[in-house]
Amino acid sequence: MSHLSFDEVKLFEDTDTDADIIRSFINMEYKMTEEPFFILDVADVIRKHWDWIAKMPRVIPHYAVKCNPDPVLIKILAAMNVGFDCASVAEIQAVMEHGVPADQIIFANPTKWCAHIKFAKKMNVQKMTVDSEMEILKISNYFPEAKIVIRIRCDAEKSLIPLGVKFGCDPGDEAVQLIHLTKRLGLKLWGFSFHVGSLSDELNAYSRGITMCKRLIDVAKSIGCDEVQLIDIGGGFSGDSRHSIDKVASIINDAIQNIDPSITIISEPGRYYTTTAFTLASLIHTKKIILKDEKMTRMYYMTCGVYNCFLEELLKIQTRLPIPLSKPESDEKFLSCVWGPTCDSIDCILEDILLPEFHAGEWLIWRDMGAYTTSLGCPFNGFSLSKVHPFVRKSYWEQFLAYTNKIRKPKESILNMK
Ligand SMILES: Cc1ncc(COP(=O)(O)O)c(C=O)c1O
Repeated sequence: MSHLSFDEVKLFEDTDTDADIIRSFINMEYKMTEEPFFILDVADVIRKHWDWIAKMPRVIPHYAVKCNPDPVLIKILAAMNVGFDCASVAEIQAVMEHGVPADQIIFANPTKWCAHIKFAKKMNVQKMTVDSEMEILKISNYFPEAKIVIRIRCDAEKSLIPLGVKFGCDPGDEAVQLIHLTKRLGLKLWGFSFHVGSLSDELNAYSRGITMCKRLIDVAKSIGCDEVQLIDIGGGFSGDSRHSIDKVASIINDAIQNIDPSITIISEPGRYYTTTAFTLASLIHTKKIILKDEKMTRMYYMTCGVYNCFLEELLKIQTRLPIPLSKPESDEKFLSCVWGPTCDSIDCILEDILLPEFHAGEWLIWRDMGAYTTSLGCPFNGFSLSKVHPFVRKSYWEQFLAYTNKIRKPKESILNMK
């Protein structure tokens, strides 16, 4: 396990607010460059994990790296024994370089490149998902010792990102045929998985998926797939501050309560761990007031935009509002558009929205910026991706160190500041 150092996580007093912390980074580093930057509240990630294990103790989380591959975030999760869901060679490398053992990783991309399967074999990452005959044949060719997890389709009724349109076999006849194929080829059928979709409202989908997996385990056992032992309930857990996991935890705990203890239950949360932990600070570098459709409209040009961290705004699946770092002069709101820094007119974060009066040179704070922001960004037009500053308030850090030392064997208790 790699060490965390004071260089990587900056300590603050318990009494320091997020605004104090952002101001201190601006003063240290950003007054001249005007670059946007993130702060990562390490304690927020720790709290999320403790909440998960308290409320769903039987469901072992495997963080979906695609959501945000920040190296300090990976280190913190690894130090708490969280597993990882990786989709590619680069993601496997990103977690293994922090000492994560291969058996804590699931290669959960149901359609993998042959070269990536060979890499997984080399690194001994055995658990991998499939949803088709061809994928099973590829694994049989390149990594016959792999532990196969068949992904079935189980969509939540309403989800903004329905993953079932791309992945997951039909849970009926098709899944049964795939079970038989693994048996015929002498492969290790390890279990079943599903993903209800991201940003969905229908929590009962988890219960439906678990019931389907239970049935398929019975089918597999009945034809002699004796090693089957895993249900993977995927991701899709909300991470924003308005939703707790209490409701979904109670649905999942009910659905798994009669499952034989020999079956391991895992999940692949992404948004859940990261959404609230990352806050973005960005500068208004230019302001214009124009007449748009006969209405006076304030046009704010920011140092960050849809290409570096607001892709979900471009896709119309998020509308995050900024908070000014300094209190506005009045509560009055004005029709406004907020633009990103590039020369592209689709680089628009917010269009025709009521906001307080802001000024050029003013810093804005954007909360809930941890999921699918940096991981989807690109340096279009030469505007680079924003730096992340991990921080923690002192008393939380002490609790975290005590916790990681408790869950590790004495020889492994190496997560101490340099
Ligand atoms: C296979 C898989 N697992 C987990 C996740 C994470 O989903 P979420 O961030 O909604 O928890 C995704 C998201 O695309 C995924 O494709």
